[in-house]
Amino acid sequence: MKIKKANNLAGIIYPPGDKSISHRVAFISALSNGVNVIENFLLSDDTLRTLDCLGELGVEIEISEKLMIKGRGVKNFQKPRSTLYAGNSGTTIRLLSGILAGQNFNSEITGDDSLRKRPMMRIIKPLRMMGAKIEATENGTAPLKIYAVKNLNSIEYELEIPSAQVKSCIIFAGLHAEGKTKIIEKVQTRDHTERLLGLKVSSEDGKKIIEVEPGIKIENKYYLIPGDISSSAFFIVAASIIPNSHIVVKNVSLNPTRTGFIDVLRKMGAMIEFENVREVSNEQIGDVIVKSGKEINLKNLTLAGDLIPNVIDEIPVLAVAGAVAEGVFEVRNARDLRNKESDRIKAIVKNLRNMGIEIEEYEDGFSFEGGKKLKGTLIQTYGDHRIAMAFSIAGLVAEGETVIDNPECVKISFPNFYEILKNVLN
Ligand code: S3P
Repeated sequence: MKIKKANNLAGIIYPPGDKSISHRVAFISALSNGVNVIENFLLSDDTLRTLDCLGELGVEIEISEKLMIKGRGVKNFQKPRSTLYAGNSGTTIRLLSGILAGQNFNSEITGDDSLRKRPMMRIIKPLRMMGAKIEATENGTAPLKIYAVKNLNSIEYELEIPSAQVKSCIIFAGLHAEGKTKIIEKVQTRDHTERLLGLKVSSEDGKKIIEVEPGIKIENKYYLIPGDISSSAFFIVAASIIPNSHIVVKNVSLNPTRTGFIDVLRKMGAMIEFENVREVSNEQIGDVIVKSGKEINLKNLTLAGDLIPNVIDEIPVLAVAGAVAEGVFEVRNARDLRNKESDRIKAIVKNLRNMGIEIEEYEDGFSFEGGKKLKGTLIQTYGDHRIAMAFSIAGLVAEGETVIDNPECVKISFPNFYEILKNVLN
């Protein structure tokens, strides 16, 4: 894929369905006791892996204009005939492990080369505390072997690292537990699972407590999945760093646990407004309007501390905005970026450096002086969808030609990214 410098960005964008919510709605529908109808479900590589795994577990799924999933209840899944395959999807393997941990059959789940490098002890530890029998490789990675149990115990567990995948895994396992499971979060992470299940949430000493009651019955429902704000982030940044742009991103999730990057861009000086804000399937949704002037006058800042989990998936594209803005752009306390679909600290540092930025790498982040002219180069995506899309946006402001080494990897989360980009580019 070759990218050239753009004049501006203009038009209306309908982003694909939210990836995090699509995975969760698929799992929750499978755990329900009836037929669920789902509109705007994301059909991408990652979410298709979730549907494939559920199909292997005997869940009836029909993909047409809307998605239909017939639930089997919390316990009545079928023993899979072979190893379940989660592909590139951390959400699939970590959330599904919580469901498999409480079943009365053995199962095994694995993924692609990237997923088999990612840490799984973060879910194995709490699952074992609940009485699950689960094994990983010596390195604490997939394949995971999960053995039959009669029941799980309830636990009270404070998350050691802020992770919505770990939280959601424990919530799903908690559906099989005999007592009340309590999860304590010091730092807020995306809250889609507790919202979709309508769980009791409270706060104590600044910490959030999520309770899973034993034996809750999951109703079959109609769901409308909002557009993905993380996928929209590429266009929101593009319209903020390319002069004379004006885009409207329609019907997108505005859940406050996901919109941290918009607060960051606004602090940098970007002109971003929300319109038509409303509630759908217990999630906030609305339109995002982004405009830029004749000149780009963004100012850089430091991203660190409790903000990081809220912007974790948008750091690659925020770094691209930082390259255009004046001053020092710094990211700290983001060590977990090295455990994503690629080592994203390394990928950001390498690609920005190749585009002409002098950048310093830290174990938990990076820093550089922005406001420099980027030069087009060959971008190494490491097969990581968010690196491919973030540096495609960098290519729109770079001098000369930018080439993306593996543009197909965008199909992990956003199969029509390049088509939509072409439609709004001038
Ligand atoms: C996700 C949670 C985050 C995020 C990932 C999706 C989810 O991961 O980076 O893209 O859907 O729960 P962690 O829970 O590992 O932080």
